[in-house]
Parts: sequence; structure tokens; C-alpha cells
Amino acid sequence: MRAIVRAWRAEGKRVGFVPTMGALHEGHLSLVEAARKECDAVAVSIFVNPTQFGPSEDLAQYPRTLEADLGLLAKVGVESVFAPSVEAMYPAGYSTFVEPPQVAVPLEGHCRPGHFRGVCTVVLKLFQIVPADRAYFGQKDFQQSLVVRRMARDLDLPLEIVVCPTIREADGLALSSRNRYLSPAERRQALAIARALRAGSEEMARGERSAAALRSMMRDILHGAGIERIDYVAIADPETLDEVATLKRPAMALIACHVGTTRLIDNAMLG
Ligand code: PAF
Repeated sequence: MRAIVRAWRAEGKRVGFVPTMGALHEGHLSLVEAARKECDAVAVSIFVNPTQFGPSEDLAQYPRTLEADLGLLAKVGVESVFAPSVEAMYPAGYSTFVEPPQVAVPLEGHCRPGHFRGVCTVVLKLFQIVPADRAYFGQKDFQQSLVVRRMARDLDLPLEIVVCPTIREADGLALSSRNRYLSPAERRQALAIARALRAGSEEMARGERSAAALRSMMRDILHGAGIERIDYVAIADPETLDEVATLKRPAMALIACHVGTTRLIDNAMLG
């Protein structure tokens, strides 16, 4: 893989890289599309990374749809797909991990201990294997994009991190590989997440500046839809993810909650 990418770069091609865990949807394809627009050759990785899943999370049931994924990528047109086995990425004796940056500590870091350690480790490994000029991530995993950006800066990684907008269904549901776990009734319930984020944004536009008031209103919307298990409704500084009390400038609203047995996350900029 590294030889292929180096040969492209030796030809003067700009290389774009889209790391994924497969179960591809329009959100992933929008990253590929952005990479295709800005680069001369595009590589995609498909790897369900075990080190970013906690012991009680959905690693075993995470959708693995390699044939369908390859079909989609052939249709949109990418130069190369890297789909390694777990043994190739983590052979016997593997024991080196990346300590994630500070921005990995709150929110997902708090709810999913070890998650970002696994993400940083696999992303750094993938960047070594696919030495691209630009790597593309989705804003849907907003904290992940900050974590990867910070890691790239702190470790002097020679590539640019590009973050692309979240892709939504017409009714607002953010695309996620985990949406396929939802029953039709749960899918309807899940719409409350985007509704809560929209309401937060509208309330801020109407002049509400208290983060506590906005959080409470957003929680009410989730509860109203029957979503009981809420990991967090946060309003945070978009660079550091520190909680803000009063919105003096644009802030990020982030939600993580469980719809049935499916954990979903979403976010939106307020202001
Ligand atoms: O966002 C994802 O799909 C994963 O966290 C990533 C970046 C491919 C690392 O496994």
C-alpha cells in the first residue's frame, strides 16, 4: 500500500485518503467525493478497528459489508482500497498505543474509556501505511475530528486533515452506519436528536445565551420523544470542547444518547 501511494506521489499526484470502518453510506461517499475533487488519486481504508470498541460495545455486531462497500467505491471511482485483517494490523505481540490529546478527555472520552486511544492508534498506523497528502473525516464525529487534528499537529504528521459536513437524510437524521440497527419506530424516535439540535440553534438565534437553558430544552425534546438514556447534551467551545456557561460566541452543541440499544451521536454549531 505504501509503495503504491509513494509511486503516485513520485508522479506528482496529490493523494487523498478516506479512513472508514466500512458499512459505507452517503456520508462516507461525500468524503470520497471531496477527496476526488481536491486530489489526483484517492485511497479508502475499510477496517473495523477492535481497539476503539469497549468490552461492552458493538464490535461483534458492527456491520461488515465488504462486497457492497467495494461495489459502491467502484461506482464512485477510487484508485485503491485497503482492507486489512485484524491480524495484519495488530499481529501477536502488538503493544504500542497512542496517548490521545487533551481534547479526547470529555464527552466521548468520558463515556467510552479507551475509545480515542484506539482511534489515535489506528489512524496513526493508517497514516503510516497510506502516506497521503490529505485525509478526510466527517463532522458527524466532531470530537474525533478535533482529536485527529490535534494529534496530527502535535506529532508533526505531514498531511492535512480535512473535515467535511455531516450528511443527513431529508428528515434530518445524520447518516451513520449504526442507523441500520434501528427499527422503524426507533428511527422515528431518533429524529428527536436533530430536532433538539435545530431547536437549540433557533433558541440561540432568538437571543437565548444561557447554555443551561439550551441544554435543558434539548433534553426535554429527547425525553419527549421517549429517549431516556442520554449520555450527554453538551454545549462546548468548538476548539477545546470545554463546556461553556454563556454563549458569547458560536459554540458546538453535541448529543450522545441511546435509542433502543443503539448509541447515536450528532452535533451542530450554534450561532
Ligand atoms: O470514524 C471512523 O469510522 C473511525 O473511527 C476511523 C477514523 C476509521 C478509525 O477507525
